[in-house]
Amino acid sequence: MNIRPVRVGDLMGMQACNLQNLPENYTMKYYLYHAMTWPGLSYVAEDENGRVVGYILAKMEEDLPEGDEPHGHVTSISVLRSHRRLGLAKKLMIQSQEAMAAIYQASYVSLHVRKSNRAALSLYRDTLGFTVRDIEKKYYADGEDAYAMRLYLKKTDDSAIASTATR
Ligand SMILES: CC(C)(COP(=O)(O)OP(=O)(O)OC[C@H]1O[C@@H](n2cnc3c(N)ncnc32)[C@H](O)[C@@H]1OP(=O)(O)O)[C@@H](O)C(=O)NCCC(=O)NCCS
Repeated sequence: MNIRPVRVGDLMGMQACNLQNLPENYTMKYYLYHAMTWPGLSYVAEDENGRVVGYILAKMEEDLPEGDEPHGHVTSISVLRSHRRLGLAKKLMIQSQEAMAAIYQASYVSLHVRKSNRAALSLYRDTLGFTVRDIEKKYYADGEDAYAMRLYLKKTDDSAIASTATR
């Protein structure tokens, strides 16, 4: 398995992976927008045949309210069922978090997760150290609430790295 920054040629594979794994789906234009605007923030995991088996689609938050610090946002992440519990999602998250801090000086990373999504909640909270900032009622199209989660990123003297204690 190989984890690397996304290329335009991966976008169909990412979309296919997303369609298999999540009800929140996006137009090809939206994938392209992420890849073109923040090329260092989205990554894919590919198998030995070059098939996309996992991805993270991420961006810097736009239109910040006054006083808010620059921060990254995870738009979507998923891993094919056949490739779960191998540490791929953790690695994809850490790669993107590090790039957010190092390239864009992000002070934190935010995301939303369904209240019922135990696997993702465990990944974010227990493995990566995210905390719940808020509950957004009926955030999802089917009426489910979301946890709005956040992880602060630590800066060092010469570069900035994610404050993921579990690496
Ligand atoms: C959530 C998801 C991305 C995790 O991907 P993954 O590659 O299997 O996750 P990892 O192997 O990196 O797991 C890292 C940690 O997350 C937690 N975790 C992952 N899957 C879990 C599960 N099914 N149950 C409980 N904890 C889980 C564990 O703490 C795990 O560490 P461990 O394996 O050492 O116990 C994957 O299950 C998935 O694609 N789900 C469907 C899409 C989705 O829900 N995306 C998130 C939307 S917010």
